[in-house]
Formats: sequence, structure tokens, C-alpha cells
Amino acid sequence: MAYVIALVIVAFATWYLSNRLRRARLLLPPGPKPLPIIGCMLDLPSEKPWITYSEWSSMYNPDLVYIDLPMHPAVIIGSYTAAMDLLDKRSGIYSDRSPKVMYELTSWDYNTALMPYGQKWRTHRRVFHQHFHLGAVDVYRPVQLAVARRFLSWVLDMPEQSRRHVRQMTSTIIYRITYGKTIASMNHEYFIAAEKAVAGASMVSIPGAYWVEFFPFLKHIPSWVPGAKFRQVAEEILGHVINIRDKPFDEVREEFSKGTAPPSLAKILLEEVQAKHGTSSDFAFHEEVARNVAGIAYIAGADTTMAAAASATLALGMHPEIQQKAQAMLDELVGPNRLPDFDDIQQIPYIRAIVMEACRWMPPLPFLIPRVSLVDDEYKGYHIPKGCTLLPNVWAMSHNPEYYAEPDRFNPDRYFDKDGNIDPDVLDPTMLTQYWPFALLCNDYDQVLPYYWLVVCGFAEGGIKLSCDIPEAFGIIDPMAYATVLLVIGLITWYLSHKLRRTQPPLPPGPTPLPIIGNMLGMPTQRPWVAYSEWSTVYKSDMIYISLPLQPTIIVGSYKIARELFDRRSGIYSDRIPLVMDELTTWDFSTAFMPYGLWWRAHRRMFHEHFHSGAVDVYLPVQLAVARKFLLWVLENPKQTRKHVRQYGLTATIIYRVTYGKTITNMDHEYIVAAEKAVGALSMTAVPGAYWVEYFPFMKHIPSWMPGAKFKKVAEEIRSHVVSMRDKPYDDAKAEFSKGSAPASLARTLIEEVQGKYDEHPEAAYYDEVAKNVTGLAYAAGADTTMAAAVSVMLALALYPDVQRKAQALLDEVVGPDRLPDFDDLQELPYIRAIIMEAFRWMPPLPFVVPRASLVDDEYNGYHIPKGCTLIPNIWRMLRNPEDYPDPERFNPDRFIDKDGKIDPNVLDPALLIFGFGRRFPTSICSGRHFAMNTLDIYVASTLHVFDISAGVDANGVPVVLTSEYVGGMISGPRDFPTGFKPRSETALRLIREAKDSDIP
Ligand code: HEM
Repeated sequence: MAYVIALVIVAFATWYLSNRLRRARLLLPPGPKPLPIIGCMLDLPSEKPWITYSEWSSMYNPDLVYIDLPMHPAVIIGSYTAAMDLLDKRSGIYSDRSPKVMYELTSWDYNTALMPYGQKWRTHRRVFHQHFHLGAVDVYRPVQLAVARRFLSWVLDMPEQSRRHVRQMTSTIIYRITYGKTIASMNHEYFIAAEKAVAGASMVSIPGAYWVEFFPFLKHIPSWVPGAKFRQVAEEILGHVINIRDKPFDEVREEFSKGTAPPSLAKILLEEVQAKHGTSSDFAFHEEVARNVAGIAYIAGADTTMAAAASATLALGMHPEIQQKAQAMLDELVGPNRLPDFDDIQQIPYIRAIVMEACRWMPPLPFLIPRVSLVDDEYKGYHIPKGCTLLPNVWAMSHNPEYYAEPDRFNPDRYFDKDGNIDPDVLDPTMLTQYWPFALLCNDYDQVLPYYWLVVCGFAEGGIKLSCDIPEAFGIIDPMAYATVLLVIGLITWYLSHKLRRTQPPLPPGPTPLPIIGNMLGMPTQRPWVAYSEWSTVYKSDMIYISLPLQPTIIVGSYKIARELFDRRSGIYSDRIPLVMDELTTWDFSTAFMPYGLWWRAHRRMFHEHFHSGAVDVYLPVQLAVARKFLLWVLENPKQTRKHVRQYGLTATIIYRVTYGKTITNMDHEYIVAAEKAVGALSMTAVPGAYWVEYFPFMKHIPSWMPGAKFKKVAEEIRSHVVSMRDKPYDDAKAEFSKGSAPASLARTLIEEVQGKYDEHPEAAYYDEVAKNVTGLAYAAGADTTMAAAVSVMLALALYPDVQRKAQALLDEVVGPDRLPDFDDLQELPYIRAIIMEAFRWMPPLPFVVPRASLVDDEYNGYHIPKGCTLIPNIWRMLRNPEDYPDPERFNPDRFIDKDGKIDPNVLDPALLIFGFGRRFPTSICSGRHFAMNTLDIYVASTLHVFDISAGVDANGVPVVLTSEYVGGMISGPRDFPTGFKPRSETALRLIREAKDSDIP
């Protein structure tokens, strides 16, 4: 009966929700009206698209304009605020490139700027960065200086060719640096090929330039078929790309093998590859990376720099008064008898302002390189569909009168305040192109700026036309092809979709889904790790596929697979699927749930600075003192020991003290109540399938009074607790700081750091929020997790008295009865560490850690893993694998001890699982793990040293029977807890009481 009712409800809900979905889709950003089938294809501008995009932004919506295009909907971002919000703060969603067919056909996708995100991209990026980061670029300065000076003589000899000289200067510098050679003339075949290849790339990047982007299967059409002109174009560009990327590199490689290669980046890269990968099987891969990186240096650096240098030169020619002002400054600082050099740079901010203004006035890349949305998203009430191309219109942003008065005027003075200093309130236009596309920051930027200004010498040539000069040979849309295209589309689509179905590997096995709602009804919300594990057994697979609406999910049940996916392929599996409940409750302030991006990195870096293994020693005195106070609390009230461990006790007191410099005095402390509620609620909302709104994100707009919107009320309540936990103590610390009365704490240190570094700078508010989140996070992420582990250790010790006895004997031996253990003793007590490791294994504090998301389609063990899939690591199952841990239900710390009494490195350390997997780059896993280990080590050693632990008795004096039942949600732990804590001796009693008069530092 209940089943029938459930089905009726589901049918109704499905109908209702799909209706809502249809309506929600109507809320796309406004934009030009599409035609049937071809959408806005015919409206797309092929020349100066940024101007048309700007007009659309003014006409439809300043932030976002939607362009309906077949298979590739696009959104133009017209405002800096929207660009920051989407491309920076939500960069995890918007950092992928649109994999263009024309990039692939022309081989342009060897360039990191156009390569889709993934492991290959990361390897290229890392190698490039090594040679072009801020600290590395100084070695190129002599070349930059010499060529910039030579440029002056070229201009003197042939001023009418100055535009060409600008190009020659930027090209020569990069060519010399990259391949160690000088090219005397711009007629050199390399430069000609480079010019053509870049013009080709510039052209194929124009959205809508080639229909093959809308119908990718067309790439298989042979070039003689009518309508396949794009193939001829691609082949021609490919020839140029190969010439510029392969030829000079192959020459250097040959010279390198003969030992005659001149010093250059290519030579260094070859040396590195030889030294690191000379004999390994991936030598060819790394040599290709070296070749690409050298090619990228030229290609990404020459024309972009040239465009900006040329526009600065043009502007100076048009504005003699600006020239004169700059020259007067140069005369004053440098004098007439020498040329300026790099040391003079810092001292003439006006030159810097000219460069900034040139970047604003004529941005070298007016609409940057498009991004793709990895998931469905929403911004300011508009829906941004998954797979949508985002075009940041930098030109519109840099000509926005709200930021730049009279935007068409070239005016370097706009960057100065009344005291003649660079005005931090004026948006630095280089931020528009350099800053927010986090992962795709221009690599060359650091090396470009220093010499950029050297060309600002007062030469001008009118009519410089930037970007997208399209050679005759490259026609764009061939109208004759239109009919042919439409005819072949049907056929090819049918053929390819059949082929795809046959070639794509199967999904992993899993429970049979129902139509539309998939496995939604079967998702376990109580002890889900057990059901996940049972599925693995039933379907005989450690990868289980669960079909959920809009959110395919795979449960990973083996450590081997987890390592392979989350560690080795971490570039693909490092992201999070942002949960709607995290957003509604504002729990997304936690780095554990934030998508990867600049915002995440800012948090992670700040947190890491204060909790990495070398930093946590400063907290040891607090941890030691609180662990000793804890013994006293237990002595005085053993029945409440569970509470002493948790919210107002050991774990909370330590973290609160470290973070805000204060001590919690009672369990009704408003902070503790709020934190307990916020963290407790998170633990439940994070259980996959707990709230249907995760599958139908648009439901978040339903008002909370509507039937079925209980999640909204839940979210509102949690939100109030999150805000109290995160904001209040930090705001208090700030108020005390401004009065000079803030006690020493992490909060005070961060406030000092932010104010000291950013002071009046616009970034101050940004970093103040990061600091607030980081302090909130220390408690939120650290208290309940550590508590869960601390509680399970005590239960285990009560259930396994033999373990207690063994540990106590060792403590007696190492520490002796007359004092309490301290941190120095722990080196000699590996058995204490083994107890903690076994508790982690026996009852992992986060049984399925924090799920990940796949950024691209992938394949493992013959199974297909779809892009955007959630991956849940079921570490509870992994930690019960009898191959790694024989007799897994038994609490047995000895499994970690080798025959010499040391920790056995051959047994899988549960810490490798319970703190999360792999590298969410730049570093990895839980940032608080060292701090947590210190707390647990001293707590376990101190407690065992003075107490015998047993189950205890109930209110009637009847002995309690403890079970090892394990309960909870995202954070889990034992249901039962012992209350029998008896001092081991009179001396132990005395040692415990000594803590009474001691202070917590
Ligand atoms: C036994 C205790 C702990 C356990 C089992 C634990 C476990 C975890 C796990 C599984 C994650 C998610 C990692 C991922 O997949 O991205 C995490 C993240 C995190 N944990 Fe812990 N944790 C513990 C203690 C602590 C403590 C004491 C702190 C703070 C002092 C802390 C701070 C954090 C932070 C800030 C994150 C967010 C991710 C990051 O940026 O590192 N944790 N923790």
C-alpha cells in the first residue's frame, strides 16, 4: 500500500518538478532572439565581436547575455563583478576550456591556453611556470634590455616601419630566450609561420566562425566534400603550427645531442627531460611537453605583447602631452646621458600607468579565451546551463564608465590619487586579463611587464589595427555549404550515435534504476556506508554506479581504485560537486566543500600556513594543558566523560583557545551550542541523497511554506547557527583587536596579517573574509572530527582491557608513575600511536570522507566514468578489507606493530584514508591532521597513564553492557561510551589533581 502511495507521489512530484524545470529553463539570461534549429548562428559577428557583445550587454543585460547556439549555448559576461563571481569565486565550475574542433584539427590544442583542463594541462603548466614565475624571470632581463635598446636604433633608422619593429622586438626577445638564437629579419620563415599560425588561431577562436564547432562530427568529412572548406583552412594553419612548434625545437635538439646548443629555455628543458626521464618509458611524453612549452613561450608571448606595446605606442603618438610628461620624469630620474634600465622601473609609476592604460584602452585579448561550465549553475536569478561556453568580454569591462570615466580617452592619470600615488580604488585593468581566470592566469605576465615600458619612448604610427586580421584565404561561413551541411547532419549523427553506443565502455554495475528518478528511492540515509558495502558485495564490484537525476554517482569501495582515481588522476577527480544545501546553509565557506579555484586556494593557503607540520608545535602547550585539565574533569564527574571529550571539553576547548584565545567555561556557551548544531546538521545534510533538492537544484527557489520545501526551513535554521559559529567570535576578536585588548590567538594573528598586508587596499575585504572563514573552519572542521576519534578510542579501550594493560605497562616503563606523559615521551610510545591508528580504522570519523566530482569523461577497469559524476569513497569498507586487515572487526592495535615494537610501514596506515585522498592541488587532504594527531596522542597517553577504563554502571548501579555500534552521518562515531574511569593509584590521583591550579597558556 505504502508503495502505491509512494508511486503516486513520485509521479505527481515528477510531473510538477519537470514542469518547474521547463519553467526554470526559461530563466536563461536575456539575449538575441534565436531562430529554430540554428538559434543565433546568423547573428554572430565575425569582426570585432567584442563591440557587438558590448551592444548586446547594454541592450539585454549588463552581466550576462545568452546566445542560443546549436549544441553550444554561450553566455557573454559583460561586467567585472559577474566575471569575478563566476570565473574566480566559482572557478571550479568555470575553469575548463571549450575543446574546439578547430584547435584539434590545427593542432593548436598543444597550447595550455587552449588545452582542456586535466593532467596533461597541469604537466605543461607546471613546466612553464617553473621557468616564468615571478622569481624566475629575472634571468631574461639582459636579453629584454638589449633587444629593447636595439629596437630604438631600428626605429631611428626606419621610423616608417615602427609597427614592424615593435613586432620584431617582442618576437626577437622571446625567440632568443626560447631557442637561444637571434633572427635578423622579420622575413625569416619562422616569423612568417608564427604570424600566420597566430592569425589563424585568432580567427578560429571567434565563436561561431566555423559550423564544425556546432556539429563536431563534421570533422570527419573529407576536405573535398562541399562545405568542408574549414578542413582546408585547418590544414593550412596546421602547417604553420608545425613549423613554429617543431622546427626550431628539432634544431635545438640536434645541436643538443652534438653538444653545440646555445643557452636557451629549449636546451634547459631538454636537459631536464634527459636527467629526469632519460631512461623511463614516459620520456617521449616529457619531451613532447618540453617541445610544447617552448612553442607556447613564443606563441603566447609574442603577439599578445606586441599588441599591447603597439597600442601604447599609438596612444603616445596621439597624445604628445602624455609623452612629454613621461619624458620629463625620465629626464629627471635617468638624466640625458644614459638609457633607462630595470632598476629605474619602480620609481616612475607614470610609465606603469601608461602600460595599464594601454591594456585597458585596447585590451590585447578583448574577449579572452572562452570557458565552459562544468555543471548547471545559477547567477543572479539566471540559469547557466552545464556545458555552456562563457565569453568574458574584457573590452566591455575595460570600457565601463562606472570604473573608468570617459573610457574611450587614453588617460594614464586616471590611476593616480591626489597625492600622485597609484590609486588602489581604480581597478587595475591588468586584473581583467590576468587575475580572475585563476587556473589559466597568463603565464607570461611576470616577464612581460618589466620590459613593456621600455618601448614607451614616444614613437607613433597611426591606425594600428588589433586582433583578428583575417587573411583572404580563410573564409568564415560558406553559405553554399549550408544545404549540404543540413543534409549530412542527419546521416552522420545517426551513424555516430550508433557507433558511440557501441564503443563507449559500460557503466559500473549497480542497483537497477527506475525511469526518471533512477535510484533516488533506494538511497540509504542511515549508515549509508553499510548499504554501499552490501552493493559492492552483491554486484561483485568495488565500483557501484547509482543513477540519480542530474547527478550520476559512483561508490568506490577499494583503496586501490581510490588511490588510482583520487591520487594518480587527481587532476580529474579533485573537484567538488557544490551541494545546494551547503549554499543555502552557507556551509560552503568551508574549503572542504568549496569548488577548486582562487577563492579556495586563498583559504587553503592561509589555513595551511598555520597548521602545517612545522607550524603546529606552537599549539603543543595548549594541547598539553587541556589534556591534563580533561583528566581532572573526568575525575570529578566520570559519568559526563563523553561530554568532557566533546563539545565543551577537550577538543572544543583546545581549538577555541587556539583560534580565539579564550576558554570555554560551560556547555551553554552560545558559541558551542551554535557550533554543535551547525556541525551536527552538516553531518546529516552531507549524506548523499539526504535532500532531493540536490537532484533538482532549481527547487531551492521554492518558498519555504510550500509542501515539499521542508529543506528550506531546515536550511534557514542551520544557516543561523553557521553564521553565529563563524562570524560572531571573529567579529568579537576584531572589535577587541581595534581596542588593543585581543588575546593572542590565530584570529588575532590573521587580523594583524590582513591589516598589515592589505591595509586600505581593496583586497583587504576579500582577505578579511578569508580570515574569518579560516578561523571558523578551524573549529568547524576540527572539533567534531577529532572528538569522534577520541570517543571511539575510549570505547575500544573499555571493550579491550588487554590493550589498556599493554599500553599502561609501556607508559609505566617510559614515563614512570611520578609524572604525566608529555610530547617528548610519545616518540618512544609507538603503541599509543597504534591504538589511535586502529581507532581510525575501526570507526573512521568520516566513513565516506568528502565526495569528489569528475571533471571529464574517464575510463577505469573497463568502466565508463561520466564527466560531472560524484565519486563517494567508502573508506569504511576499505578499512575492513581483510586482505589489508585480517579479522577486521577486532580492535587490534598490534596489527600495526612490527617485530621490533615499531610501527610497521608495511601495514596500510588508516591515516592515508581517513584524512581524505590525494592532491586537491597544490597540496593535499585535511590541513588539520598534524594538529589532530597531537591532540589525540597526548589525550590517549595521559588518560591511559592515570585511569583504568571500564564500561561503568548505570543510574541503578547495574553494570553497563557496551556495544561497538557505529552511528552518524558524514561524521560518525560510537553510540556507546564508557563511564568507568578509576584512578590507577594514589600517585595517579595526585597527578590528576595537580592540574587544578594550572592555567591553560
Ligand atoms: C581525526 C580528526 C580529523 C579527521 C578524521 C579529519 C578529516 C578530514 C577530511 C576527510 C577532510 C576532507 C579532505 C578532502 O577530501 O578534501 C578534512 C578537511 C579539512 N580538515 Fe580535517 N580532519 C580532522 C581534524 C581536523 C582538525 C583538528 C582541523 C583543524 C585544526 C581540520 C581542518 C580541516 C580543514 C580546514 C579541512 C578542509 C580542507 C582543507 O583545506 O584542508 N581537520 N578533514
